[in-house]
Amino acid sequence: MVVIKILRQGGFNKFSLAKMKLQLLFLCCVSGIHCAKILMIFPFPSFNFYNLMFRLVKELANHNHKVTFVSPFANNDSEINYEFIFVGDLTERMKKVRIEHLSLMKKGTIGRTLYDFSLGLEMTELMLKSKQVQNLLNSSRRYDVVIIEQYFNEAIIGMGHHFNAPVIILSPVRLGFRSNHLIGAPAPSSYVLDTHSLETKLDTFWDKLHNFLVRNFLELVRSTIYLSKQNQLFKKYFKTEVNLDQVMYNVSLVLSNSHSTIHDAVPHLPAVKNIGGYHVETPNKLPEDLKNYLNTAKNGVILVSMGSGLRSKDLDPKMHKLFINVFSKLKQNVIWKFETELKNTPKNLKTFQWLPQQDVLAHPNIRAFITHGGVSSLIEAVYFGVPVVGIPCFADQENNLETAAKRGYAVKVLIKNITEDNLHEALQKVLNEPKYKQNALKMSRLMHDQPMKPIDSAIYWIEYVIRHRGAPYLRSASLDLKWYQREMVDIISFILVLVYVIFLIIRKLCALICKKKLKTVISDKKNK
Ligand SMILES: *[C@@H]1O[C@H](CO)[C@@H](O)[C@H](O)[C@H]1NC(C)=O
Repeated sequence: MVVIKILRQGGFNKFSLAKMKLQLLFLCCVSGIHCAKILMIFPFPSFNFYNLMFRLVKELANHNHKVTFVSPFANNDSEINYEFIFVGDLTERMKKVRIEHLSLMKKGTIGRTLYDFSLGLEMTELMLKSKQVQNLLNSSRRYDVVIIEQYFNEAIIGMGHHFNAPVIILSPVRLGFRSNHLIGAPAPSSYVLDTHSLETKLDTFWDKLHNFLVRNFLELVRSTIYLSKQNQLFKKYFKTEVNLDQVMYNVSLVLSNSHSTIHDAVPHLPAVKNIGGYHVETPNKLPEDLKNYLNTAKNGVILVSMGSGLRSKDLDPKMHKLFINVFSKLKQNVIWKFETELKNTPKNLKTFQWLPQQDVLAHPNIRAFITHGGVSSLIEAVYFGVPVVGIPCFADQENNLETAAKRGYAVKVLIKNITEDNLHEALQKVLNEPKYKQNALKMSRLMHDQPMKPIDSAIYWIEYVIRHRGAPYLRSASLDLKWYQREMVDIISFILVLVYVIFLIIRKLCALICKKKLKTVISDKKNK
């Protein structure tokens, strides 16, 4: 309407543009859409996580919100209207992370988590002390909500306190040890495996005991060492009387990149909203060469991508050879996201340095997906109903693929004992046994059968927190308890002590009564 009016007035000039902006502002405010100021901070050096955050930036900007996005990744998407603050200080450090990830593959649950603790502290400080973030902190800006992508960076939650705005956390993988403590989410060691756990089963007593001990050891390290360091960072960069605890346990909402088709059913508090699938967009047109390749493959195509955290080209050359040998025996064609040139490839294999993964998975001629099992990739596979051969490398991948195998749409091959034979066998299963495709389609139907599209749900809950200036009534009472109160160690101890005392009293009484009886018996005997 506004545009038509301006066109009638004879095109755009400075005045009419300003007027249109004003009218648009008015329109979006009266129609109930809040033109909120939103600060979004992305402090972790993973391109995949960055993409997850950027999807929200885009959608919020499209909803007429004024978004400020702080990130170590540059973006040149000029079609989106948002303010971008580039923090270059993290970029150098990021390059090393990739190499460190490779050696991380050999470490256990504890080793990997300790690595994340120290990397998290390093990244948090780099972010907070950067010139750009310092300028932002010293500005007189106001924000209606602060959204933070959370990965071992608790001190950054101080941004909410600083700007006096409620905080929303985006969890790029399903909730777990990293984020449960922020909202007091229960995760009993008896049936919940952590995203950080390398174990995949909790069947026996010993599995549960192991899970309990590892979890509590890490919990101890977190509460004694790690969080006190985060608190120091918080104090140093926000210069406040308040303690990190008061800020950290004041988070309004957690948006979790998860859905029950992808992850096990675990306890969720009302402050957790699963938005898994929100990053998948309506498929775009494929580039010509890719489209032709996919359309003309008579026996279908297999897509191979090992993600962006660990890239295919970083894998051992022996592994490349193994993949190539397996692919050369297939009647299907293969497209492989491979970040440099690959020599001596068979006729049915084509490599691409970059692939629009979602759009390729959406193509009906894709028969299977070979993936490292990152959450986003699995969500995309399920979204488009493509069965999976998973080769987990690190982080939560093995765990995700265990669930995928249980859901019946994936076969898992461990990288440490991968051979040409077992990879070939896994592929043949997924390609030839119909149940894998059927289950993938079933999961896909379940993921699409939701009251609201995941992206709409994400926007709804963000705007909800803005409208109500936080969500304190969603806050769990467990956040105010000490660990021994929460786990009822105090109550159980009290009951045990009580039972013991009663036992002692009864024993004493018995002894007294028996003694008396004995005495009377003896005196009776004497009297006789
Ligand atoms: C806790 O969050 C609310 C908004 O949800 C905010 O008003 C309050 O100041 C926060 N408390 C602290 C200590 O930052």
